[in-house]
Amino acid sequence: MADGKTLVVYFSKTGEQYGVGNISEGNTALIAKMIAELTKADLFEVKVKNDNYPSAYKALTEAALAEKKANARPEIEGKIANFAEYKTIFIGSPNWWADMPMPLYTFIEQYDWQGKKVAPFVTHEGSGLSSIPAKIKNVTKAEVTDGLAVYGHVAQNERERAKQEISDWLKKIIF
Ligand SMILES: Cc1cc2nc3c(=O)[nH]c(=O)nc-3n(C[C@H](O)[C@H](O)[C@H](O)COP(=O)(O)O)c2cc1C
Repeated sequence: MADGKTLVVYFSKTGEQYGVGNISEGNTALIAKMIAELTKADLFEVKVKNDNYPSAYKALTEAALAEKKANARPEIEGKIANFAEYKTIFIGSPNWWADMPMPLYTFIEQYDWQGKKVAPFVTHEGSGLSSIPAKIKNVTKAEVTDGLAVYGHVAQNERERAKQEISDWLKKIIF
């Protein structure tokens, strides 16, 4: 177990997702909850203010691409008052166009990451991590562990397999 308090932060989308139909719990949310349970961490969901992301998949991909191209920082809800207390922070993201959804940048840029250990995890449908861990390193300047990539449809439909992939990774990053 790592020293100090642990936090799992994630962004995830319900609605229509690639290969899994209409989901009521997002793929990344499922992985985030499993990690939080296994590591006894606190959980924080990054939610945009006045969320008007489309729930249809194709429209969502277009909206996301527009935000990425604009390098947007959508406003998000809530703030973690005791952020300084966390030593290890997992950051969970769906792979959106080989990147994180822009609200995760809004989140990351609000905090001081000095001295934190950051463990990135991603759900995807073929691209894996892309360069998301490097992007997180770039923004946080913190110590960033090897990342975990889980297929979205595995998170959604093969939960025991997903849990096994998580435990193998946690051992590897010495958690
Ligand atoms: C806007 C958008 C862009 C995506 N881009 C990619 C991609 O570039 N590569 C990939 O493997 N999957 C891509 N996907 C699939 C998602 O990464 C995958 O479905 C993920 O598990 C969704 O997580 P969530 O349910 O937590 O939001 C994209 C999905 C969306 C909605």
